[in-house]
Amino acid sequence: MSAHVARSAKPLRLSQILFSQGFGTRRLCEGLIYNGLVRVAGELVEDPDAEFLPTGLVFEVDGKTWPFYDKALVMLHKPAGYECSQKPKHHPSVMSLLPPQLRERGVQPIGRLDEDTTGLLLLTDDGTLIHQLTSPKHHVPKIYEARCKHALTPAMVQQLLDGVELHEPEAKFSRPGEITQALAAEAVDETLLRLTLSEGKYHQVKRMVAAVGNRVEALHRPQFGALALPADLPVGEWRWVASPAEVWGQ
Ligand code: URA
Repeated sequence: MSAHVARSAKPLRLSQILFSQGFGTRRLCEGLIYNGLVRVAGELVEDPDAEFLPTGLVFEVDGKTWPFYDKALVMLHKPAGYECSQKPKHHPSVMSLLPPQLRERGVQPIGRLDEDTTGLLLLTDDGTLIHQLTSPKHHVPKIYEARCKHALTPAMVQQLLDGVELHEPEAKFSRPGEITQALAAEAVDETLLRLTLSEGKYHQVKRMVAAVGNRVEALHRPQFGALALPADLPVGEWRWVASPAEVWGQ
């Protein structure tokens, strides 16, 4: 199965398994088992020391099914009105859309989407994966759909492909900005721009579109790397990603 489960190939105690999956302190995990709330392969298990091979294990806690993942990787269909920060300032955090078990495991967004951006957000508790997927070295393409205020012109699209200068929004003095290019850019209709970027700079799409004299009115991310937002994942809902290979496209 996935690299995310391969590391725990030796049998583990059921209480350890629940603990590793974010079900609270060891005592709480033992309590869930003693209280008859845990099933493995459909069978009630009341011994916290019963051992199971975690690889590929599926268990139930209080009637809800959980697959075992050594490292968690999930996708969220981010709604507008949620901040990616763990300590949000003006809106609830995307973390509030996840079950407590994932928060307990310490999952964090892989990169950020603005509060008003919708679409595919990945979250994980695997620090190495966060680093790899956000590092500019790896050039992981992200696709954005930007509904623009003004009609798109072929010149605007060409400028985005050739490279535009991004000014620092916070800079006190005007100074040359960084040049950034889209990997792909196309006008889908009069005002809908589809952009592929490999970096993840602050407000990057909005600043690139502003640099060509237009303005983003709504922004959506339908794809991160090779992983597309599933059409049947409702806004505000999350789902497991079985392996990072789905993001790398391997
Ligand atoms: N670029 C932006 O401007 N905002 C986002 O949320 C993502 C990319």
